[in-house]
Amino acid sequence: MEAQIQSLAIQALAEIAACADESQLEALRVRLLGKGGELTALSDRMRELSKEDKPRIGKVLNETRASVNAAMEARNAALTVAQEARAFEGVDVSLPSTGFSQGALHPITQLMDRAVQIFRRMGFALADGPDIETEWHCFDALNTPADHPARNEADTFYMPDGRLLRTHTSSIQIRTLEHMAPPVRIIAPGAAYRRDEVDATHLAQFTQMEGLYVDEDVTLGDLRGTLEFFFRELFGEDAEFRFRPHFFPFTEPSFEVDIKAAALGGGRWLEIAGCGMVDPAVFEAVNLRRGDSALDPERYTGFAFGFGLDRLAMIMSQVPDIRLFTDGDQRFLSQF
Ligand code: PHE
Repeated sequence: MEAQIQSLAIQALAEIAACADESQLEALRVRLLGKGGELTALSDRMRELSKEDKPRIGKVLNETRASVNAAMEARNAALTVAQEARAFEGVDVSLPSTGFSQGALHPITQLMDRAVQIFRRMGFALADGPDIETEWHCFDALNTPADHPARNEADTFYMPDGRLLRTHTSSIQIRTLEHMAPPVRIIAPGAAYRRDEVDATHLAQFTQMEGLYVDEDVTLGDLRGTLEFFFRELFGEDAEFRFRPHFFPFTEPSFEVDIKAAALGGGRWLEIAGCGMVDPAVFEAVNLRRGDSALDPERYTGFAFGFGLDRLAMIMSQVPDIRLFTDGDQRFLSQF
C-alpha cells in the first residue's frame, strides 16, 4: 500500500504541474481529494491495516495529502499571476500618462470672493435671497411704482404666477430689512436678470454685488469712503473717482461712480457702480410690511450701492466679450 501511495503522489504532482487553468486544477482536486477521490479511497483502506502498519502508513498518507495540497496552492497562485500578466499584454505601463488638469474657480467667482473679503474687513455681512422674486421685493418696496419702465414685461422674465427673475440683488436688501433692525451692514452678491439682447456687453443673466448700510448718522461721506476704499483695494492706491449725479428710484441723492486708475489703463473714466442714500420711502414701505417703525426715517439714514461683477472682471482683465464668461471655453478659463 505504501508503494501505491507513493506512485499516486508522483503522478498527482506531475498532473498538478501540467494544469493549464483553474478549472482543470479544481477538477483534479475533486478527483484526488473529493469524496470517493483516489487519495480518499486509500485513506478508507487504513481500516484493513494491521496495528503495526497503521501509524507508518498513516503518516505517509498525511504527508502525501499535505504535499498535494501545497502543490495545488502553489499552482493556483502561479496561474493567477500568469493571468494578470496576460491582461497587460501589449500595454506599455512605463509610458507617461496623459495627465489630467485640475479645475479652478470661475473668474467671476474668484472676483466675488475677493470682493466679499474686502467688504468683510469693513464689517459687512453676507446676505442672500431668492433669484425668483415677488414684484414687491424687486420693485414696490424699492420705490419703483407699477408704471415705472423697469416694470415693463420686456425688462425681465415673469413667471405665470406674477413672480419674476430679480433685475437686481436690491431685493435681498429689502428681505434683510424686513427681518433686521439697524444697524444693518450687508453685501448682497448674486445673479440678476434682464431681458436684454445678448451681445458683447450684455447677458440675460449677470452677476451683481450690492451693499447696504443703515444706522444713525450714516452720511454720503461714509458711502464715498466705503466705495473708494473697496475699489482702491482692487485697483490700486492711485485710483481716482468721480461721483456723477444720477437717478435711481430707491436712493436720493443718487450717483454713478466713475473710476480712473493706472491698473485700468489710466487715461479714461470708466463707469463702474451706482449708489446713493436710501430714499426714506424705502424705509416707510418696509415699515408698513413689518407693521412697526423699526426703520424710522427720522432716526436712521443709509447708503446703498451696486455694481456688476462681470463688467468689473471685464475691465480688470481686458476681456472684450462678456459671453466668454459663460461659454465654458477652457482656453479662456484656464487663463485665470
Ligand atoms: N440696483 C441698481 C441696479 O441694478 C444698482 C444700485 C444699487 C444703485 C443701490 C443705487 C443703489 O442698477
